[in-house]
Amino acid sequence: AVATAFASQVIHWQQSHGRNSLPWQNTQDPYKVWLSEIMLQQTQVSSVLEYFPRFLARFPDVASLAAASLDDVLALWSGLGYYSRARNLYRCAQQVVEVHGGKFPPTAELLQTLPGIGRSTAAAIASFCYGERAAILDANVKRVLTRVLGFDADLAVAANERALWDQATALLPLQAGLQTMPRYTQGLMDLGATVCAPRQPTCLLCPVQPVCTAQRQGTPEKYPVKTRK
Ligand code: ADE
Repeated sequence: AVATAFASQVIHWQQSHGRNSLPWQNTQDPYKVWLSEIMLQQTQVSSVLEYFPRFLARFPDVASLAAASLDDVLALWSGLGYYSRARNLYRCAQQVVEVHGGKFPPTAELLQTLPGIGRSTAAAIASFCYGERAAILDANVKRVLTRVLGFDADLAVAANERALWDQATALLPLQAGLQTMPRYTQGLMDLGATVCAPRQPTCLLCPVQPVCTAQRQGTPEKYPVKTRK
């Protein structure tokens, strides 16, 4: 087997029910995947569908972005909001050029050293582009995994968040590679964006319903647990 039961259910569901023709999918170009992941961090897919092609037309690669002026980058970002993302994007492009010879680094660990790329974004890029066995844990995926695991410890506590990262890593497909990891990563994102909604999740349509603790308890909406801090 190339995957745990959980991973293989996610992968099979993604193939038939997930999103498979977004413009940043079906590429292993880290520049495009990075750009899409940064845009998608605080922005709806529908808006990114409008901005992503325009940005790429103007800045087709990391070298052209690094050579631009910050004002030009901010102008193209205008309307997407959260402008620190655009500033970090620009700084990141310059570091890729100046520190890494114009090539995005080849591991999640190294990607994480770049401006604006946190642990989950680094893992998304590395899994999509390199097939690395790296766990993502954005807000949607936290909801999916806390429900499946019945993980009810407060995620406002750093040690609990670390424990969930460890669980996310334990659930990864056993085999790395581009045959498994992009579909698994996208599948978790797609589940979180559709079936495993914050309110009234459609558990009857969920591929991991048979192994989901929250569904068995009948209380999916109580996850994730996170107190205000
Ligand atoms: N949100 C974050 N990353 C995404 C992706 N790759 N596809 C769709 N939505 C996303």
